[in-house]
Amino acid sequence: MLSILNEPFEILLVWSETTISVASDQTALAALHEAGVPVEPGCMTGGCGSCATRYIEGDVIHKDACLSVSDREHEFCPCVSRARGVLVLPF
Ligand code: FES
Repeated sequence: MLSILNEPFEILLVWSETTISVASDQTALAALHEAGVPVEPGCMTGGCGSCATRYIEGDVIHKDACLSVSDREHEFCPCVSRARGVLVLPF
C-alpha cells in the first residue's frame, strides 16, 4: 500500500496553462524538468535550498530541511517535497 507521502499529484503551471503529473515514484523536480521548467538542482536531499521554487497555492507536504516556516508559506523544495491534489506554480 502506498504511503500518503508518495501519492501522485498534479502541478498547474498557471501562466503556461499546463498541468503536469508527478507520479508516486517521481520527484516534483524531475517532473518540472521534464516539462522544461528551469529549476536549479543541487543536493537533491532537501538540504541546500537551491531548488526552492515559489508556489501560488496548494497543500504542500514539505520534506526539506532548509526552508523557514515563513519561506514554506510561498516556496517548496521540489527535490523532496510533494503536495496533495493540485499545486499551482507561477510559470
Ligand atoms: S536540491 Fe538542495 S534542497 Fe533541493
